[in-house]
Parts: sequence; structure tokens; C-alpha cells
Amino acid sequence: MSTRGHLEVKNSHLVLGGVDTVTLAEQFGTPLYVTNEARIRVNYQRFKDAFPNADIYYAAKSNYNLTVLKILAEEGAGADVFSGGELHCALKAGIPSDKILFNGNSKTDAELEMAVKNNIRVSVDSLDELRTLSEIAHEHDHKAEVAFRVNPDVSPHTHPKIATGLRETKFGIPSSDVIAVYKEAQSMGDIKIVGIHCHIGSQIIDVSPFIEATKKMIDLAEELTGLGIQLEFIDLGGGLGIPYENEIAPSPKDLANAILPVFAEGLKALEIHPRLILEPGRYITADTTILLAKVNTVKHAYRNFVGVDAGFNLLIRPAMYDAYHRIIVANKAGEKSSAVYTIVGPICESGDVLARDRFLPNIEKDDLIAILDVGAYGFSMSSQYNGRPRCAELLVLDGKVDVIRRGESYDDLLSNQVFPSRFR
Ligand code: LLP
Repeated sequence: MSTRGHLEVKNSHLVLGGVDTVTLAEQFGTPLYVTNEARIRVNYQRFKDAFPNADIYYAAKSNYNLTVLKILAEEGAGADVFSGGELHCALKAGIPSDKILFNGNSKTDAELEMAVKNNIRVSVDSLDELRTLSEIAHEHDHKAEVAFRVNPDVSPHTHPKIATGLRETKFGIPSSDVIAVYKEAQSMGDIKIVGIHCHIGSQIIDVSPFIEATKKMIDLAEELTGLGIQLEFIDLGGGLGIPYENEIAPSPKDLANAILPVFAEGLKALEIHPRLILEPGRYITADTTILLAKVNTVKHAYRNFVGVDAGFNLLIRPAMYDAYHRIIVANKAGEKSSAVYTIVGPICESGDVLARDRFLPNIEKDDLIAILDVGAYGFSMSSQYNGRPRCAELLVLDGKVDVIRRGESYDDLLSNQVFPSRFR
């Protein structure tokens, strides 16, 4: 059986970060998210090594567990945050405020105020938002530092739900309009222009859309330079994909080889020196984490259905994007595959399928299923649907285990609910 990267098989058991996953399931129960700390650091360093002169702003949305953010803060990462909540977590984790960019297409006034009060740079998504931010900055006697999110109309060749740089999506200011917005910002006393930003999409496994976006951003930088605007940074967003199945995905080095020459030549011709910012999320966290789920029942019906104790409440990617996640029978990881199984969750919806028609070792009740590559957009997109408390998260490193989030209880499902007095 082939495992990738940091996963190992010992005595037919799946081992992560030097820890036997079967023992973890016995000790902590299931379902259970397990993250390998070493892998987060390795992935971050691979990115940093490929882009030694860029600032890496980790996309907190992919996984904003405080310990994960702290590990990345230790590595020197900044953060792309998309909400007040993500900003709160990034600051709590010790990511310096001058290494955070507040993104978002529909920020509340309170979120903009939070950015202003904490001296956080904002990627402004519309002219309307610019005016609101300017007013808020004025009230606080503050000069807000901004970039503008450009919609470069680039096709990222990815799932339509995660393509963000096409003109029909809700994100960013059309490149044809953005210069006018910069001009308006130039006239605002409470606004300081510091950058330009785009993000074309996610799970991109072809470098050509990144090259196209880089060229478009350099063209815009040329126009802005002509207006006398000094850009401190050009932020090209995140989006580098990973091989979930057996796709060939570019490495950070491949991405660097594709875009850095275009970036460097463009800047040289313009004689400007903005820093490059990149916002990887998935590449840093996706393959660091597995979700362990126990088999409740096996049913030989139209398909061989394996009912496990995690569903789209804990991992929505298969249901939402038809995403593929590899499956390993963690307590039989060394055994030969013998039958085709469909792994389903306990949620009362027929879309609650985690993996379809997989050739796996013989599966029985109480076996342990590991779902791989769930560190990005796994727990961070979880819910309590069907009255299912969210599970615990563990961190493993060289044989050591830490709980980084306790599992919720049934009472936690009710923790913020209030009976109006007439029901008491
Ligand atoms: N920067 C911005 C402004 C973003 O919107 C995103 C992701 C990123 C960076 C990070 O992209 P990454 O490197 O992780 O591809 N839930 C979906 C992915 C949604 C991505 C949203 N934006 C999924 O599970 O595939």
C-alpha cells in the first residue's frame, strides 16, 4: 500500500507523526482530526524556500486552529484573514499586525473598524467599501493603509465553486475599473495606498493561470506607477493545488520558476521595488491532517456502503465540490484490497458520501477509516448539523500527542441557546 509523504504503515496500522492512529482512536475516541506538526513546518519551509524574498501570508480560512496559527507564526508567516474572527485568532496566535491583510468582499463596518483600530491593512473590494473605510478611518483620526482586490478575469481551471478571479464572480474590482478607484483613493486624506491584490482561485494545478494573473498585475502596476502611486506590495493571493488523487500538482518551486521571472522582469522595466506577497492556505495545511472515523455498520446493498461516524458535518468537501480524498483502512493498512466500498457518513442526506467506489481491504464493523488530506477546509468548514457535536483535534509530533481542541459535548450544542422567560 502506498502512502505519501509523512504517513507510514507499521504492523499494518497507519502511523502519523510517529503515533499509531489505532491507539489514538482507542484513547481519544472517534471521529478525530489529527494533525502532524512537522508537516506544517515542512510545507511552510518549502514555500518559503521557493520564494525567499516574498512574504508568505498564510490563508487562515483553510485552518484557523490557534495552535496551527501559532506554529506558522513561529515559522515567520503573516496571515490573510477574511473575517473579524480570523483576525482575532491571527492576532491571538501572535502574528504581527503589520503582516496581516484583511480580505473580504463584504466586510461589516465593525470589521473595518477592527482593522483600523488594530492597524491592519485592508484589501478593499469595492469603491463603496473604500468610502466606508475612509469615513471610519477619519472618525478614528487614522490613515488606513489599503490595497485593492482586482478581479483580473483569469480562468484558474478549477472547480467553479472555488474559481474567484473570473469576471462573473463576486470578488474584486474589475481590472478595467480599478484605476479609477485608485485615483479616488489618492484624493482621500484618510487613506494611504500601499498595494494591489488578486486571488484567482483555489486547488489550481496548472501554473499558466498564475503567469497570466502576474502579467495582468504588472500591467496594472505600470498604470499605477504612472499615476505616481508607490506600491509597497503586489499580492498574488494563494491557490496552489495539491495532488488529492494522483494529479500532478506543481510544487512551490515550479510556481516560483513560472512567476518569479515574469514578476522580476516587470518590476525591473518599471524601476519599482514592491514586495511580493503570496497567500497559500491549502498547500500549507491540507496534507498535514487526517480524519479518523469508526465503522458503525457495513451494508451490502446497491453498493457496499460503509457507514462511519463522520459525515459532511465534519468534512464537507466531497459533498460540496465532489472532492476526492484518499481513504486508508487505518487498522488494516498493510492488507491487500479485496472489494469496492462507498464510505458514507451518518447525516440524513444522500449527499453525505465521503468516498465513492474505493477498492479497499475487507471492511467490518469497528474498523478505523482514515480520510487523508483534510487539514485545509476540513475542520474549518465543519458544522453541528443533525445535532452532532464537533469532534476533537489532536496535534502529533515525533510520537507525542497534544489535544488542540476538545471535542464538543451535547451540552455544547445548547451552550448559546436561551429559553425566553415564558418557557421556563
Ligand atoms: N487568499 C484569498 C483571498 C482567498 O480567498 C483564498 C481562498 C486563499 C488566499 C487561499 O487559497 P488556497 O491557497 O488555500 O487555495 N473551501 C474550498 C476552498 C475555498 C478557497 C477560498 N479562498 C475547498 O475546500 O476547496
